[in-house]
Amino acid sequence: MEVDSGTVLQAVRQQLEADRLLGIRSVPVSLPEPVPSRAGKRDVRIVDPEVVAQKAEQLRALDENDVRNCTKCDLCKTRTKTVFGVGDPCARLVFVGEAPGHDEDKQGVAFVGRAGQLLTRMIVAMGLTREEVFICNVLKCRPPDNRDPMADEILACGPYLERQLQIIEPEVLVALGAPAAKTLLNTAASIGKLRGRFHEYYPSGLAGAAVPTMPTYHPAYLLRNPGEKGKVWKDLQMVMDLLGLQPPDRKRS
Ligand code: URA
Ligand code: SF4
Repeated sequence: MEVDSGTVLQAVRQQLEADRLLGIRSVPVSLPEPVPSRAGKRDVRIVDPEVVAQKAEQLRALDENDVRNCTKCDLCKTRTKTVFGVGDPCARLVFVGEAPGHDEDKQGVAFVGRAGQLLTRMIVAMGLTREEVFICNVLKCRPPDNRDPMADEILACGPYLERQLQIIEPEVLVALGAPAAKTLLNTAASIGKLRGRFHEYYPSGLAGAAVPTMPTYHPAYLLRNPGEKGKVWKDLQMVMDLLGLQPPDRKRS
């Protein structure tokens, strides 16, 4: 079979770009780090400081009055700290992970361990910062030994995630890994089948339009399977297109 050298070159370039932007290198190349910049962003959301303060207060109340003292499932017995989520109360983009791990359980902050550091790099590669998005999980307490969330735990904890999303009103969601995708999209399909296109998250209750949701591989899975990072970068590029964002090194002005 004849292989077009242009196609090979393009594939190699795409691989290198994903390697560099997502911070895992499959080939020994040294390329400059992306420089985050606000230039070229289309800020379509009108952010009224009063609205930001109101949403911040609603999130704080949900955390302090409900989540921190929650005993709705058995994970309350083994957790060190609850992990509410972190970021902009008016974020256009919300990342939803699975559940706190060891480091998150100790610190009470979402995505701060190894997988979290990779997620942070992914966010920076998109031209954003952790402070400009919101990052949370389906479960607010760590399952012992990081086992998969159980159906009754997701059922008990789900309303907190729903409430967070009602308050934040994001334009786009990224579901990191199968438990997040299955919970948000109410499906049993595998993440490999779901990723690569937008699905719709329907906020509970009658109010609220469907929110476009991109399922993709969890950063912890990417740490074990770095060959899949190109797919994640493709998914994130679709999210950036929807939000009118360009990667930092491609910005034109
Ligand atoms: N994995 C997750 O799903 N969430 C975290 O906060 C950390 C690791
Ligand atoms: Fe409550 Fe959720 Fe923690 Fe279970 S995982 S105790 S439902 S906050």
